[in-house]
Amino acid sequence: MDKIVITGGNSLEGEIPIAGAKNAALPAFAATLLCPGEFRLSSVPDLVDINTTVSLLKEFGAVISKSLPNVYTVNTEKLSDVVASYDLVRTMRASVLVLGPLLARSGKAKISLPGGCAIGERPINLHLKGFEALGAKIKLEHGYVNAETPDGLHGAKIVFDIVTVTGTANVMMAATAAKGETVLENCAREPELVFLAKMLNKMGADIKGAGTHRIIINGGSELKPVDIGIMPDRVEAGTFLAAAAITGGHLKLTGCAPRDMEVVTEKLKETGCEISEGDDWVEIKGPKRPLPVDIETAPHPGFPTDMQAQLMAVMSIADGPSVITETIFENRYMHVAEMRRMGADITLKDKNAFVRGKISIYGASVMATDLRASASLVVAGLVADGITELRRVYHLDRGYQRIEEKLQKVGADIKRVSG
Ligand code: EPU
Repeated sequence: MDKIVITGGNSLEGEIPIAGAKNAALPAFAATLLCPGEFRLSSVPDLVDINTTVSLLKEFGAVISKSLPNVYTVNTEKLSDVVASYDLVRTMRASVLVLGPLLARSGKAKISLPGGCAIGERPINLHLKGFEALGAKIKLEHGYVNAETPDGLHGAKIVFDIVTVTGTANVMMAATAAKGETVLENCAREPELVFLAKMLNKMGADIKGAGTHRIIINGGSELKPVDIGIMPDRVEAGTFLAAAAITGGHLKLTGCAPRDMEVVTEKLKETGCEISEGDDWVEIKGPKRPLPVDIETAPHPGFPTDMQAQLMAVMSIADGPSVITETIFENRYMHVAEMRRMGADITLKDKNAFVRGKISIYGASVMATDLRASASLVVAGLVADGITELRRVYHLDRGYQRIEEKLQKVGADIKRVSG
């Protein structure tokens, strides 16, 4: 199995182009199931999760080809099946995003119920409650969700008990086929949802309010395929900002969307980073040693849980103590034990991580059980004394397009070793 080997201590300098966002591309692929025809998706990141989505859509009968790097043609003229198997869903929870579009188009869908996940229990009860309010009949049998719409879908008022990103996306997609008006309350406000609504509106849907707590969908319009470019990945960009902050580096990130990452750049400014930005670029100069900052994760526009681990790596060498509070997922501290093996001084109590910044940390063999935890160990490895070997690289490959090549180009001593 591949591993990433990093010799820490190099300061980073140069430009990094930012890829399309994984969490915008996954719902965009799912949305192609909503109507027959040929879609063109560009700026699609080169990730294992995208390959999994492509396999999933092919199981339903979609014909998919990659015409250029990062450009996919997805033909959903004919759907042959509406079953998403356990084998695919267990490798990627976001597979659940096909449920809304399949119900909307075919009136039925059967997908494996995603099990628990390394970062938390992550149920999908709110997705299902939303579909039921729209008129779907749902049965949970033998580890599968069986959903049908015997009388079609109709508009409804739905209040999400908890803010859920893919739950909002899934129900919003189903509601495009529901007759009449659907009002979704307590919606997630993530930029990726605004992007999805933009794509659906381009397809002919009538969706207002994406990016606010209330989304209103006037369902039933005929949809048509579109040609769309995926928005930039704010978490990939944020990870490179953390890499600059921890190494005292100087990076310019291009093709990104600084307005979607303000909460992260503001926090990094508090650590002493100098940051300037334009519409689609951001430049960062890391401090000699970061100042400590407290962080509490929250749904957008709060501090993203997907950046918590990377900022914890920065705090591990901060000039003082900090407190990090994870409020979204109950088990998103899998990186802490590994960072401790690199000499970090971190104590966990309930939702809080108490980080006492040290003047330096050291390299070690580490591994992680989820994507962002793996990314945080790469960030830590860039500053650690000596060599860090990161195993289970497949987690990284799910969400970062060749992270080691991008970091090599700006001066990091990092390589992938096979075997
Ligand atoms: N929740 C429920 N019931 C539901 C749905 C969610 O209780 O039906 C709970 C979850 O257990 C969690 C909270 O609500 O405690 C929020 O979860 P959410 O549904 O918002 O998460 P998600 O949609 O499954 C997406 C991203 C995650 C990201 C979270 C939070 C995608 C494909 N995934 O997950 O991305 O961490 O939102 O922002 O968009 C990642 O990229 O590494 C990643 C995990």
